[in-house]
Amino acid sequence: MNTYVTGTTIKQLREARNLTQGSLAEKIGVSSKTISKWETAKGLPDISLLQPLAHALGISIIELMNGEHIINKNISANILRSKFYVCPICGNAIHCLGNTLVSCCGITLPALEAEETDDDHAVTIENVEDEHFITIHHPMTKQHYISFVAFVTSDRLQMVKLYPEGNAQTRLQLRGMGYLYYYCNQHGLFKKKV
Ligand SMILES: [Fe+2]
Repeated sequence: MNTYVTGTTIKQLREARNLTQGSLAEKIGVSSKTISKWETAKGLPDISLLQPLAHALGISIIELMNGEHIINKNISANILRSKFYVCPICGNAIHCLGNTLVSCCGITLPALEAEETDDDHAVTIENVEDEHFITIHHPMTKQHYISFVAFVTSDRLQMVKLYPEGNAQTRLQLRGMGYLYYYCNQHGLFKKKV
């Protein structure tokens, strides 16, 4: 995290909640003059005030620091709008049901945009008993490999981690309509409707 809360953020959030400088000040036990100073960049709230300030503004500390209020409108948890995040430094892979701020190894990760399968990342799916055998036609060297495969439907997520020098293959139960996602460490996220 390399940002700190700004006066502009405090002002915008306060006004969006129809709070006066006085009423916000009262909630966190400072004077309205102090709030005015923060909002006009003549001072910054002490770190010990971030928690009460975030609470009074109805957001998390992370949102307050980033100046971004994340509204997850996805209340029905439509998993088909799933987002994947991959850390370019450690390779950590994270799945979320909606918008969020994800940070790993000290950097904020963008939600990956999945591309449709291409010729260099082709996939075949074969039925094997009650499962499906997924093969991605792709190198699995230490420099260039598929790091995970996931199948997402409206009510479940299956995710399999793959490793370099292994096979770009796995078994999954593909029940119902969904999307097969897989991630190449060099070319990014791919998806295929199943
Ligand atoms: Fe690739």
